[in-house]
Amino acid sequence: MRLQNKKVFVAGVSRGLGYAVAHMALKEGAEVTINARDGGKLSQLVSTLSRYGKIHSVKGDLSTPQNAKEVINTAVREMGGLDGLVITVGGYVEDSVENPSGLEEMLTNHVKVPIYVVGAALPHLKGGASVVMVSSMAAINVADPSQLSYASAKASMVKLVEVLASELLDRGVRVNGIAPTSIRGDFEPDQDWTSTRKLGDDSAPPGDFARVAIWLLTSESEWVDGVVIPADGGARLKRRGG
Ligand SMILES: NC(=O)c1ccc[n+]([C@@H]2O[C@H](COP(=O)([O-])OP(=O)(O)OC[C@H]3O[C@@H](n4cnc5c(N)ncnc54)[C@H](OP(=O)(O)O)[C@@H]3O)[C@@H](O)[C@H]2O)c1
Repeated sequence: MRLQNKKVFVAGVSRGLGYAVAHMALKEGAEVTINARDGGKLSQLVSTLSRYGKIHSVKGDLSTPQNAKEVINTAVREMGGLDGLVITVGGYVEDSVENPSGLEEMLTNHVKVPIYVVGAALPHLKGGASVVMVSSMAAINVADPSQLSYASAKASMVKLVEVLASELLDRGVRVNGIAPTSIRGDFEPDQDWTSTRKLGDDSAPPGDFARVAIWLLTSESEWVDGVVIPADGGARLKRRGG
């Protein structure tokens, strides 16, 4: 098991990617704490996932530095340490420069929250720890005119990964990210999804992206730092220039 005795915090857990990451981390031997604002959903996920290992939840909104500190401190108290941090906080708004209605929310969820969470975790992260953020192929692919705030915020996250990795280099803490394509459907523990997609598909089930995030948490990826990995099953290769 690649995460034996590791303590992993997963921020912004949904029934998709965050759920898959928590499940796979438990199966790899980690003790896990999941977070979101909806306590009812967290309780349901904890009740399903507790058969795979030691899991806790901390309800809380991570959009202020103080809240992030309280949530992280509670998680670290519960687990007795912090070796891995996966930030899967979501939110998607379509807008344009004529009416940038999603700007505040997208910058908060995809830029400020990751900064607050890593800042709050900093006192607990020791050498060998790994931070994983979730950007999007929308930050890398040719721009969609309806994604002003979302794509701009996710692209900021790509640079944020590099800056934080640079800042934490001397501490021996790695910071990386994944850039998923569209995430298809909810995660179902112990179901093999691999026959439902093929290389080149524009979307894929949560497990395909979670596996990359888990790899970034493990020491198998210890020579990878400050990068965002496109996790698109090669879909971008279909868009050939001419
Ligand atoms: N879905 C896609 O097609 C897609 C594609 C590319 C990238 N991504 C990225 O992949 C990640 C996971 O995607 P997803 O679709 O599973 O995400 P999601 O459902 O949009 O969001 C994940 C969870 O974040 C929580 N959240 C939102 N704001 C929060 C806050 N301030 N504090 C704490 N938790 C908060 C929400 O739970 P509560 O409401 O309970 O707080 C939500 O369930 C996200 O970063 C997303 O941007 C998604």
